Formats: sequence, C-alpha cells, structure tokens
Amino acid sequence: MVNIKRRTVLGGGLATTLGMLMPHAVAKPAPRLSNFTAVAHADGKGKMPALASEYEYQVMLPWGDPLQPGGPAFTYPPNADHQPQQIGIGHDGMAFFSMGERRGLLAINHEYGRNAHVLGFNTPRNHADVLTSQAAHGLSVVEIAEQDGIWSNQESDYARRIHVNSQVEFSGPVANHRLLKNPANNPYVGTISNCANGRTPWGTYLTCEENFNLYFGSAGSFTATPNQNRYGFTSNGGGYGWHLFDPRFDLSDKGYINEGNRFGWVMEIDPMNPKAKPVKRTALGRFKHEGATAVEADDGRLLVYMGDDSRFEFIYRYVSVHPWRKMVQEGISPLDEGQMYVGRFNDNGLGEWLLMDISNKILSNEFIDQAEVLVNARVAATLLGATPMDRPEWITKGLAGYMYCSLTNNDDREQPNAANQQAPNPHGHIIRFRDHLAGQHFLWETFLKSDDHYLGEDSLSSPDGLWADPDGRLFIATDGDQREGLNNQLLVADTTTGELRRLLTGVPDCEITGFTTTPDRRTMFVNIQHPGKGNPSRTNFPNPVDGTTVPRDCTLAIRRKDGGVVGS
Ligand code: FEO
Ligand code: CA
Ligand code: CA
Repeated sequence: MVNIKRRTVLGGGLATTLGMLMPHAVAKPAPRLSNFTAVAHADGKGKMPALASEYEYQVMLPWGDPLQPGGPAFTYPPNADHQPQQIGIGHDGMAFFSMGERRGLLAINHEYGRNAHVLGFNTPRNHADVLTSQAAHGLSVVEIAEQDGIWSNQESDYARRIHVNSQVEFSGPVANHRLLKNPANNPYVGTISNCANGRTPWGTYLTCEENFNLYFGSAGSFTATPNQNRYGFTSNGGGYGWHLFDPRFDLSDKGYINEGNRFGWVMEIDPMNPKAKPVKRTALGRFKHEGATAVEADDGRLLVYMGDDSRFEFIYRYVSVHPWRKMVQEGISPLDEGQMYVGRFNDNGLGEWLLMDISNKILSNEFIDQAEVLVNARVAATLLGATPMDRPEWITKGLAGYMYCSLTNNDDREQPNAANQQAPNPHGHIIRFRDHLAGQHFLWETFLKSDDHYLGEDSLSSPDGLWADPDGRLFIATDGDQREGLNNQLLVADTTTGELRRLLTGVPDCEITGFTTTPDRRTMFVNIQHPGKGNPSRTNFPNPVDGTTVPRDCTLAIRRKDGGVVGS
C-alpha cells in the first residue's frame, strides 16, 4: 500500500486565503480515484516494463518501423533514404486526434537520438550520416486504428514525417525579421529537439523545440554572442557533429549567422491537413520550450502556459489579444496576436505575470523592437525580474482551474526562493497556480515535493511529464535517477488527497515521456524514450532480452483489462 501524503501548502495567513479557494474538504471520504495494485518498488527494476496487475500493454510504433504499411522496414542502422519514411527516435510529447474512439491520428515528437544509438557510432563520417540523424528527429503523424484489441498504423493520406530538412514557415512578430535572415539566403527549413507538446482548441498540434543549441557546433573559430551564451551555444554542442557536413549548423560559417534564431519556437501543425506547412508561432517567444498548454480563459481569450527547461529559467504565459473563436472566424491565428508574460512567484503565495512588451522602458533600453524581445525572451524575462525556477517542464490544467507545473530538479541551486524551496533540489517538485481570469495576478502553492515521497513505496524523483484528467487524477512521468535502481515510472496522484500510486515502470535508462488518451480514456498511449540509452547490454526492449538487439524508442498502448478508465 502506498502512504497517503498530504499536499504541501504554505503556512500562515496565505494558507487560509488559499484554503478558501481550494476545493472544500468533504465530510465523508470520497471513493478512491485509483484502485489498481501499485507496481511494487522491487518489481520496477527489470529489463522490461512493469504494469499494475489490472493493466496490460501493447508495443506500438517503434523507432525505424515504416510510417505506414508498405514503407521501408527497419534495418539497423537506418539510412538517409529510409529514415524519412520511418518512425523517428526519441518519442516524447504526443496527442491523439480522434477519428472515432478506435481510430485517429497520433502526432508524436521525436526529441532526440544520440549518434551512437541512431548510427552506431559517435561522429558522422559524411553528409549521408548527418541526413540520417536529422531525419530521425522531428515528429511523425501516423494514422492508427484498433482492431480486435490491437492498435496498428494504417495506410493513410495523413501520415507524414516532419524533420530537420522539412519546409516550415514563420508567423507573428518575428516573421520576416532580420534576426531570422542569413547571408546565405537559405529557406526556412527544419524543427529540432521536439520535446513536449500542446493542442489547440481548434484542433491543431503544437510541438515545442527544446535543446536546439545542442545540434550546432563550430568547425572554425567561434566566439559566442551574449545571446548565444544565454541559449547555450558552444563549439562542440551536444556532440552530433552535424556542423561537420551541414553548414547551417556550423556556428563559424558567416553565411548562417542567424540560423540559431530559427529554432527554440513553438511550431503549429494541422494534422488533418497534410499539405499545410508547419508554422513557427513567434509570438510565443524563443527559449527551450518544454511544452505549450493551451487553455481558454473565462473571457474566451486563449492562454498558453509554457516552461523553459533549464536551471534557473522561467515559466511563461501567452494571452491572445481577443477571444480565440472570434480570431479564428476572422482568419487570424490566436497564436499570432497576443501578449507574452513571464511569471514572478512572490513569497506570499501571490504571483504576478510580468508583461514582456517593448513599451516597457526596461526592455526598450535593451532592445530595438518587440521581435528582439521575443528572440531574446530569456534575457528580457531576467531584466523584468521573473523568478528563476528549478527547470520547468510540463504544465497541465487540473480541477478548480489549477495549472500544475513540474520543476524537475536543480542540483545547482544555492539560493532557495518560495517557489523553489530546496537548495540544492536533486529530486524536484510540482507547483500549482491559477489565474483563470487572464489577469496579471495568480495564486500559487507547492503541490508535491519529491523529497516527501522519496523514501516510501510511492517514491519518485524528477517529475517531468504531467497530465491531469477530468476526474482529478494527475499522471506524473519521471525523468531522472529513481531511488535504489527503480526504472523511470508513471505515477497517478489524487490531486485532492495527495495519494500516489505507481502505474507503470519503464526499462533501464529509459525516460517515460509523453502520454495521450482516446476520448473515452480507455486506452492511454505512453512513450518510452531512449531505452537503455541505446545500449543493448542494458535492455533490448521492445525486443525480448537477448543482450545484443539494439533497443528502440516506442509507444505503449495501455489499458485496464476490464475496460475501465485508465488511472482508475
Ligand atoms: Fe525534453 Fe525538458 O524535457
Ligand atoms: Ca521533459
Ligand atoms: Ca526531463
């Protein structure tokens, strides 16, 4: 049995204030939201996933499988001709777009795959190796259907891959700006490091570019500008070596001085319109976007909540200028015209959204126009006095208007603040806040500290993926070393009682990343990223254990054996 943990709330007068606003305590205990048998800590260390005994899983869409039937079959390593027609690697955020309960489009981000995993060696030998690596990144749109209890991908006009060499467009305040132009005059192509995601109320998919800096390197001499420093560009990058054969990614190539500004955006894709180019929505700012959670405010405007996943970076909120329905009717994207804010979490439990607008003297002293503010969002947010957070990852909307945000960890923190109380913070925490009136203020509190759950049967560390269901469950996926060799996991929290149960554990060295459900919530798709970090001696998943077969990132379809709602 798991321990029931009480939520962590601030003390004193604020707790009283928040208490009045939180869901009222009920006189008799409500039925439990989750009745499954939690995966025991001791059972979550194997080379294959472990799932609550009331549940079962099916492996789907492993890296390298054909995008649709008839496409090139997986061979290891893949090649530059086949990989663009195959599922990418590094499965992360995803969303199911229903075409009925048992059929739909799955949009899946492919965040990253190390060369040693994708190619079988570290340094690309030629341009073809770079193209193979680039085609393994980006995202897939796949049509899937369930027949006789088995999900499979289908032949489909909607199936497509979008990767580092796909055509894209820019819209919003930075479109056509000189900061996106290169002397080489190269077209706008590519998306990289597609991490978490969002979906809009008008039915499109948002894919979020996170660690884009790691794909750049320098073949010649390179001195980083202040902007490049703040965004982490270095001569070696993440070791992908793309710059050795593709000048777009060579920081020392004068023809491509602004290529780095073309990444770090939220990109919108219409899964139902395969001919439409993806659009980078620059009004949402440039940083290491984890996800983009779109919510309708009480007055009909669109709010988009976004984390910037680096140590001491920020939580942002975008607000469309008018109600989103009106804008869509008028043919204006609600993601193009609006205002960006960044969060300050004050010690008294009140928060403030700080407007990131060039009309503010603090910003006009530093930047020429609003486009510069958005391209340099991190710098602007610092100037405004935003609260540095412990690596903001996913944000989701739960009951009573609360937005939950995972702060995954921060080993480097020396100075605590009220919203990031642990210094250092190796295991992370989750906060929640609400501001449903789209105003400039919000209330916030700490929902969960991993340290409070670090030693029990419900232990967790490094919360990352989050999804709140309409019943009050919070699904929490982890990405980081768990206690005593436990594999990364998916837990379910009851946001009213604070109870936590372990639903799923992955395989050695994997991360549990994105999830999405069918509309009836009887199938949940869950992504397993970098199993064994590509090392077959750690795991061969999803292949049976043989010690030699290269593990492959994939999606699991999980369901209750009795057909109930996932999480119950
Ligand atoms: Fe791609 Fe911060 O996770
Ligand atoms: Ca993440
Ligand atoms: Ca993470």
